[in-house]
Amino acid sequence: MSDKAIVASKTPYAVDVEAGKDYYWCSCGRSKAQPFCDGSHKGTSFTPMKHTAVESKTVYFCGCKQSANSPLCDGTHKQL
Ligand code: FES
Ligand code: FES
Repeated sequence: MSDKAIVASKTPYAVDVEAGKDYYWCSCGRSKAQPFCDGSHKGTSFTPMKHTAVESKTVYFCGCKQSANSPLCDGTHKQL
């Protein structure tokens, strides 16, 4: 099995997060429940990345899985 992150989407996912809540971002790109982990990383070297929301607002989770500021989008998807 390839151990490279799959580009799930070339644009970020806008999610309204709730302050204090934990979110598990899919780092491998294999989840069917993007941008969050659904366990599909099993058998790869990837694990989900926990993101605790500090405030309730809209955040942009990286869909391309190449962001240097993961789990959030940093604009890297524009170069894909
Ligand atoms: Fe991608 Fe879990 S399914 S990290
Ligand atoms: Fe990955 Fe923007 S979606 S950097």
